[in-house]
Amino acid sequence: MTRPRKRLGVNIDHVATLRQARRGQVPEPAAAAAIAELSGADGITVHLREDRRHIQDRDLAVLKQVVTTRINLEMAATGEMTRIACGFKPYSSTLVPEKREEITTEGGLDVLGHRDAMVQSVARLKQAGILVSMFIDPELPQVRASRQAGADAIEIHTGTYCEAFRTGMYEAELAKIRAAAAFASTAGLKVFAGHGLDVRNIVPILGIPEIEEFNIGHSIIARAVFLGIAGAVKEIADLVHGA
Ligand code: PXP
Repeated sequence: MTRPRKRLGVNIDHVATLRQARRGQVPEPAAAAAIAELSGADGITVHLREDRRHIQDRDLAVLKQVVTTRINLEMAATGEMTRIACGFKPYSSTLVPEKREEITTEGGLDVLGHRDAMVQSVARLKQAGILVSMFIDPELPQVRASRQAGADAIEIHTGTYCEAFRTGMYEAELAKIRAAAAFASTAGLKVFAGHGLDVRNIVPILGIPEIEEFNIGHSIIARAVFLGIAGAVKEIADLVHGA
């Protein structure tokens, strides 16, 4: 079976983080989104956090006007966020766990433990025509629970694998991702991956056939400080599209 080309979603939250450092107007996340698209991004991802620490509500409205590919909205499965998402109608939404005190998203969603709460949000989002993805650790019970909650897709949390990659001892974590991807695909779920990925650690992950989309933020924006957004997006887009 020939598989479609893998996709790169560029997370632009950290452009907004820089702007919010001065509560000013620059840098404009929508400008970053436009350059990312011109440089090979297949989609733009933003996380509207409950504390609005980076992306603001106005950014969603501006992005809606500017983005010509797909918008993926990361969000907590709360009533407020579900209402905003249903009004905003992104192409897809990714349900993520959210704690106010965390620096970034820590670990995957416990769909198994909170399935009843998830079912409601998933149903409302799907009714609004939004593809729903669950950001989960590569654990089979969480994959199964995501399917039972009605999700269309899972995004495998690659953070633990990325930490292991730095030590060189990453095979066990890679095997978990491989197993979760195969299991999810067999269960009829689309499979995405993200968190902590960069131009080096993504290479072994690109060999997993079921993973069709990668959402990458921090490493791209970090390299963009030196290479520009166009250069930083292009180098990882070339890797993803060449896989
Ligand atoms: N996917 C999800 C669900 C996330 O929460 C994040 C972080 O916002 C990412 C991908 C991107 O992670 P990173 O910024 O480490 O590339």
